[in-house]
Amino acid sequence: MNKQREKFYKIITYGCQMNERDSEKIAGMLENIGYNKTENLDDADIIFFNTCTVRKKAEQKVFGKVGSLKKLKEKNEDIIIGVGGCMMQIEETAEKLYQKLPHVDLILGTHNLHRLPVLVKKIARNRDRIIEIWDQQEGLIPDVPSRRSGDYKAWVSIIRGCNNFCSYCIVPYVRGREKSRPDEEIIQEIKELAGQGVKEVTLLGQNVNSYGHDLDQNINFSQLLKKIDKMTDLKRIRFMTSHPRDFSVDLIKTIKNSDSICEHLHLPLQAGSTPILKKMNRGYTAEQYRSIITSIRDEIPQAAITTDIIVGFPGEKEKHFQETLNLVQDIKFDMAFTFSYSRREGTPAADMKQQVPEDVKDRRLQELMKVQNEISLYKNQELVGKEVSVLVEGPSKNNPDKYSGRTRTRKQVIVPADENLAGKIVRAKIQKANSWTLYGELSSTQQDVYSSTG
Ligand code: SAH
Ligand code: SF4
Ligand code: F3S
Repeated sequence: MNKQREKFYKIITYGCQMNERDSEKIAGMLENIGYNKTENLDDADIIFFNTCTVRKKAEQKVFGKVGSLKKLKEKNEDIIIGVGGCMMQIEETAEKLYQKLPHVDLILGTHNLHRLPVLVKKIARNRDRIIEIWDQQEGLIPDVPSRRSGDYKAWVSIIRGCNNFCSYCIVPYVRGREKSRPDEEIIQEIKELAGQGVKEVTLLGQNVNSYGHDLDQNINFSQLLKKIDKMTDLKRIRFMTSHPRDFSVDLIKTIKNSDSICEHLHLPLQAGSTPILKKMNRGYTAEQYRSIITSIRDEIPQAAITTDIIVGFPGEKEKHFQETLNLVQDIKFDMAFTFSYSRREGTPAADMKQQVPEDVKDRRLQELMKVQNEISLYKNQELVGKEVSVLVEGPSKNNPDKYSGRTRTRKQVIVPADENLAGKIVRAKIQKANSWTLYGELSSTQQDVYSSTG
């Protein structure tokens, strides 16, 4: 083969797991038309940015990063530079990027991702600049090839879009309305993955709990989970994200009664004050949230619960913030993603009065993070001396002589080992913990059993 004719692609992904999953499809489509993966920008014939727009900062980062490729393009005008993802679903932003950065060849929306190969070929042939964005999905989502990023873990999208319209959030505007995938299609995909050696699947959606309401057949999220549990021989099933408003007792029972559904719930709180939750249009009160947590812990005491919290939402006073801190201290999440409220034009909260000054938001964020880090440390240290089951992913990045994996509760564990453990489920005894990582050693009795502690 003539080495010089080999072509390479590089994808840069921002944002959530939905975007990670889309990037696997982008990679699959590019490989199908003859490109190979590279990590090196200088080797790439196509550089594609899969963007996020959930916070303003993400946007500024992309303009900076794409802008800096101008020099690369001046050196080699054959490079194709593409920008897609949620940020490009906002017409003014896509237009601004197109005008300001003339070295960008392709702007692609999220609903027409499958058009990528055709458009790339067109650009390579004619050197046109193309901007193609659809307002919504037209008809069925075409099946496109994927280049999965992991060998033992995979993401499977079960529902796209969001109908919730939380008042701060731009996702429903850029990802469109909820659209569930038929269950047979999901089960088929999972069976194929299991056949390829995948041990763990994470079912993805902005709000997995509302799965099925838009399908003709009568199926809800718990029923889908039960079906997957029964019809596939996966070792681990995960899902995210759950919305507290649609959370059901049935779901708790389903997790409890299954060996493969992992005991981890990502249940975004957003705020611990009921009036703020109301202004956020979240559809639950702080008390209702508390009672969901109590039900989960009553039924599944070993469950890990993680969350997302926003500080500095318009109108958030010190007393409201204090309520969030109190709730966080009471509930003791295993981990929390914490954000400073970012004003997104076009969302109702952007026009609300009493926007909170940046320095106040920063201070609250620091305070919250400090409290949560201590709680995460406490929760992890509770596991010291206990045995957990770990799906090993591969050598640890920071400790190359050790292996890194995750517990059923999704906590990272580092273990030393002489043999290659990648893809294996092992038992480990935890010896040490910090806020983010557990350190253990392999237990002497190795069996593929499920741990009740991790
Ligand atoms: N669908 C998920 C998460 C979507 S975005 C859910 O409903 O929970 C991920 C997180 O980003 C959100 O949970 C929220 O905490 C945060 N987020 C969304 N919009 C934001 C904004 N305008 N400013 C700051 N954080 C935001
Ligand atoms: Fe955004 Fe709310 Fe939908 Fe989550 S549920 S994506 S926070 S609108
Ligand atoms: Fe960002 Fe789009 Fe996900 S806005 S958080 S990448 S759905």
